[in-house]
Amino acid sequence: MASARRRGTPAAAAPASTEDLGSLPSPGLADAAPIEVRGVSKAFVDPHGHQLLALVNVDLVIEAGTFVSLIGPSGCGKSTLLRIMGGLDQPSTGTLRVNAATGAAGTGPQSAFVFQDYGLMPWLTVVDNVAFGLKMAGVGKTERRERARVWLARVGLAGFERAYPEQLSGGMRQRLSLARAFVTEPDVLFMDEPMGAVDPQTRLLLQEDLLRIWEETRKTVVLVTHSLDEALLLGDRVVVMTARPGRVKLDLPVELERPRTVATTGGAAFASLRNTLWEALRDEVARSMELS
Ligand SMILES: Nc1ncnc2c1ncn2[C@@H]1O[C@H](COP(=O)(O)OP(=O)(O)OP(=O)(O)O)[C@@H](O)[C@H]1O
Ligand SMILES: [Mg+2]
Repeated sequence: MASARRRGTPAAAAPASTEDLGSLPSPGLADAAPIEVRGVSKAFVDPHGHQLLALVNVDLVIEAGTFVSLIGPSGCGKSTLLRIMGGLDQPSTGTLRVNAATGAAGTGPQSAFVFQDYGLMPWLTVVDNVAFGLKMAGVGKTERRERARVWLARVGLAGFERAYPEQLSGGMRQRLSLARAFVTEPDVLFMDEPMGAVDPQTRLLLQEDLLRIWEETRKTVVLVTHSLDEALLLGDRVVVMTARPGRVKLDLPVELERPRTVATTGGAAFASLRNTLWEALRDEVARSMELS
């Protein structure tokens, strides 16, 4: 089976309501199929010309509309796996199947990425940074600015439309990145340590923002994080990877009631899940330190 690739630019999506921030159209999840990663391995060549095995035999199925957190020691291949799932890189062996309902390469669900370094365009205003994906999709200027404003309000950036990214704090820039990812209403969002660069208090607020937005929109999200609490607070599942070469060590369902808030992290069920995660992770972190 051929690896499916995503479209490089976002597709046009249904216009968002600009009147009611709580009534944006929900995605057509019934049409979206799981992401299936089967037997995926990835080899790179290191600076000395030796083969470096980043991933080995990774199997992972992500159902549409679920939030999956991906956690593992540094260098275990999380970003590599995310890039492969997002069609930004190809596996060395194994297959990626997206949107199995249609099957053909190039027809995968529209996806968006959020990276730690924001990926913002410094020469564009805040509103135009958010509207950029819509512009690429051919949405007219008035509509794309309106939709961008709706999302800026949703992430608490109303009033900053005309600012430039450099005039924002780190937390605000991260919010801007979230708005930019959500505005195109992608079926799938890939987030690689999106909150890694902000202070712990801002991070808690961003986690609550993301929880709220996700619980409203129910997109398929794959989030890479180093934070056990973040993984558990946000995820329907937490996938723990081994030290490099990375493979799935544990796939932990998080059966905590929604809606969740940061207060959820204080409960006994949460503490128990955190222990289970740490037990699975600690040997891998130790092993990865021996490897490096
Ligand atoms: N383009 C590349 N060329 C060569 N080696 C690479 C490349 N990308 C990743 N690697 C190597 O593959 C391994 C996995 O890297 P990856 O970035 O996926 O890890 P990670 O789990 O995301 O780590 P971190 O938690 O530190 O972000 C590392 O050893 C890295 O050096
Ligand atoms: Mg990484």
